[in-house]
Amino acid sequence: MANHVDLTAIMTALGGRQAMQDVLGVGASAISNYIARGSVPTHVRSKLYNALTARGYQVRLDDLSILCGPDAATSQIKKPMVLLIIGGGIAAYKALETARRMQQLGLDVTGVLTKSAAQFITPLSVAALTNQKCYDDLFSLTDEAEMGHIRLARSADLVLVMPATANLMARAACGLADDLATTILLATTTPILMAPAMNPAMWAHPATIANQAILRQRGIHMIGPTEGDTACGEIGSGRMSEPADIAATAFELAVKRPQSLAGKTAIVTAGPTVEPIDSVRFIANHSSGKQGYAIAVALAARGASVTLISGPVALPAPPQLQLVSVQTARDMQAAAHAALPADIAICAAAVADWRVAEASHAKLKKPDHRTDTQMQLSLVENPDILAALGQSDQRPTLLVGFAAETEDVLENATAKRHRKQCDWIVANQVGAADDPVFGSDQNHIMLISETAVENWPRMLKTELADKLADRIAMEFGT
Ligand code: PMT
Repeated sequence: MANHVDLTAIMTALGGRQAMQDVLGVGASAISNYIARGSVPTHVRSKLYNALTARGYQVRLDDLSILCGPDAATSQIKKPMVLLIIGGGIAAYKALETARRMQQLGLDVTGVLTKSAAQFITPLSVAALTNQKCYDDLFSLTDEAEMGHIRLARSADLVLVMPATANLMARAACGLADDLATTILLATTTPILMAPAMNPAMWAHPATIANQAILRQRGIHMIGPTEGDTACGEIGSGRMSEPADIAATAFELAVKRPQSLAGKTAIVTAGPTVEPIDSVRFIANHSSGKQGYAIAVALAARGASVTLISGPVALPAPPQLQLVSVQTARDMQAAAHAALPADIAICAAAVADWRVAEASHAKLKKPDHRTDTQMQLSLVENPDILAALGQSDQRPTLLVGFAAETEDVLENATAKRHRKQCDWIVANQVGAADDPVFGSDQNHIMLISETAVENWPRMLKTELADKLADRIAMEFGT
């Protein structure tokens, strides 16, 4: 089988879709086909290989994966900058090796030490290795004059936190800003990557699990921890990922153009709708909103102006987007209509197809068991928000629906794409006992367009959202 080729990364390295078309001498549809297949013919492979190596990248020949960025001396491009926040844990020393590896990949690195990290490594060693001033004190007047913490936070292409200790993760999840590291995490608008490292019991503690979920939901990327021996001598999950892996992930995130959807407007629907039966009961479903929220966060992180229309969920409001909270399908439709015009609409909400014809304003009484053992509810169909967007005079340029199917996923989802007149359908198989998708952190989808069906591997909903947002950016040629 041909090796999978990551055409998104190659396109970014070459400078965008048009640059890739120019290199290959093909049109946009050929590029879309290559991306859909995840592979390229041999003659295309060698053209891409030559173009990348001519630009100073080190590339593996078999799958064209980029091992190393262009040499600073030969590159005309400003190198992406990683702000490396080093937390106070025994794994802090690995930050130095990670910094060196990131530099080898063509990234600039600026270090920030927390107070407790300075117990493990010195600012001098970080500054000497990175060739940059190492910041370590929020209230240093000199630093504030030279580069305020807000500017420092915004100047990076990626903020990398390693080791992300339980304490640092908890403070970030709470939104504290009581030192330079947490202030940067609150002030930054660039992607954040955390590499957790801690004792296995601390990693498995419900408080850390909850903090991690909050951070992920806000779009923060995580790498690790892995299983193995930890510094405290206990074996389990809590060991920080290896510097080479952290550096490679940082490279991937930092070289992405985070503002690839700047200037675009997007509507995302998420979560369930609830349809009242009476003043205390309702019809709803198990949607948690995780998938829709992750997509909204991923689009906003790439610079899109996002309106997230959400049914009732237990998720925190993500930053940097407009959240419209609704209850019923009719509320959701009104909010979607009000958010038009938009370049992009993604309907990830699990909208109730029916509502009770006449919801009672008072609590319905139980039937009298002596005379009547059945309770009848009369249902009427709800408006179809996705289909209405598809037919609207202000139809978004890219309209993406979801299809939650329990069987015949491809056939049913393809029919749904036609019926609802959307450009893409994201089909997921739901309801399996071992993987209901509803409520879980992972998803496994097929992306169906007019010309192709892509089978994406199982991944975190946040990863899926990132991948989808990158595909959308490519669709707009940015
Ligand atoms: O929220 P999570 O727990 O993270 O779970 C994610 C998810 C399973 C809810 C999500 O991945 C998903 O599949 N969302 C769509 C669920 C759904 O209602 O699918 P459907 O096949 O019934 O609807 C097809 C499409 O039409 C969807 O885009 C839906 O938003 C839209 N629709 C449906 C009915 C309606 N009245 N209006 C709509 O807009």
